[in-house]
Amino acid sequence: MKTFFLETHGCQMNEHDSERLAGLMEVAGYVRVAAPDEADVAILNTCAIRENADNKLYGHLGALKPIKERTGLKIAVGGCQAEKDREGVIARAPWVDVVFGTRNIDALPRLVQAVDDAGVPLVEFAEQFEVHPSALPARRGSPFHAWVAIQYGCNNGCTFCIVPAVRGPEVSRPLGEIVGEVQRLVDDGVTEISLLGQNVNSYGRDLTGRPIFSELLRAVNDVDGVRRIRYTSPHPKDFKKDTALAMAECEAVCEHLHFPVQSGSDEVLRRMKRAYSRSAYLDKVAMARDLIPDLALTTDIIVGFPGETDHEFEDTMSLVEDVRYDSAYMFQYSKRPGTDAATMDGQLPKHVVQERFDRLLETQTQISFERNRQLIGESVEVTIERPASKRDRSKATGRTRTNKLVHVAVDSAPGALVDATIADATAHYLIA
Ligand code: 5AD
Ligand code: SF4
Repeated sequence: MKTFFLETHGCQMNEHDSERLAGLMEVAGYVRVAAPDEADVAILNTCAIRENADNKLYGHLGALKPIKERTGLKIAVGGCQAEKDREGVIARAPWVDVVFGTRNIDALPRLVQAVDDAGVPLVEFAEQFEVHPSALPARRGSPFHAWVAIQYGCNNGCTFCIVPAVRGPEVSRPLGEIVGEVQRLVDDGVTEISLLGQNVNSYGRDLTGRPIFSELLRAVNDVDGVRRIRYTSPHPKDFKKDTALAMAECEAVCEHLHFPVQSGSDEVLRRMKRAYSRSAYLDKVAMARDLIPDLALTTDIIVGFPGETDHEFEDTMSLVEDVRYDSAYMFQYSKRPGTDAATMDGQLPKHVVQERFDRLLETQTQISFERNRQLIGESVEVTIERPASKRDRSKATGRTRTNKLVHVAVDSAPGALVDATIADATAHYLIA
């Protein structure tokens, strides 16, 4: 029996791709194991979004080296870091056997097979998809939830972001193909769909007939048996009323908008090339809240972008206090060689960024806490995801439609929908 170990870093698109990597390896006759010591092949699906992702990869590869010396383990590296470093992976870690890209994940089993005969590491990338990853066999991590990629790559030029350089230009999947996949997933027992794209609001611009994202939301909502639809991520510059209306009118589309703002300062937004102003962003937040009752709003924020002044940072603080997000992913700016921001003047010292970050974190945590506590006493619909712990089966962990984590006192099976009354809340989860 041949075995593989697979580790996934980074975003949901990598989770999606990893489900395909696992599916492909299973079709090739491999069985998944939980540790690299037990595996014939170790696959790392990597991320490149911030610098610590780089360090992590080479740390992991260092840890795999003695295992390889002991067991003959083959090591394969894919994902965004592989795209970014390409030949550099082998240069820094010559014990790696296979390096592959994000647009040729179907090549993995063949490369793993061929590397023995080759006698040298195999490094293979594609600039275009030959096979769309969504069409590949998948081993899903959940019986009731599925990631569905609607678009790959990104055409935006946010100056901090490495994604367009590693994942290439935007490619949308035809609407009918996506709906067909959702139908097959439902037939297979899936009730929750997460639509994935780097910038979902520009979906379809490269397709004939130019379908738009709100049409896609409505078409997926029309598939019988789909109970919850989520999507990520929209870009505020392209988010329009038609999407908010579709969210409001489609029963299955969840009342949650992840709406990455990045900064509250017009000047910083301009240097980031985000193509919206603070007030345009706030107008869209108001429009979405107006149209979608009980909307939960989350965001991404970067602290310490090059040249960010105290005053510009205060604009981010005041935006966060104005909007009162349910939660926020906050990041310290990380310099990504090759991006426009990497060569900008005014790269900030770590202690300045850290201090601002800590303040922002504290403020947002307090806001999350207050927003969650407002839910105490309310009844919410929860999808059960897993038992809360291995030992105690009397509690389960699940999610509200607004994407909040809830610990519920029920022993229902994963996938079950229960109505629960919120009894208590912290900044990070609810208790029901
Ligand atoms: N430094 C810090 N955060 C970044 N992000 C993207 N690039 C960088 C970077 N260079 C954040 C953005 C984006 C999220 C996925 O990661 O906030 O929305
Ligand atoms: Fe990066 Fe901007 Fe594309 Fe998002 S939309 S992945 S932030 S370039």
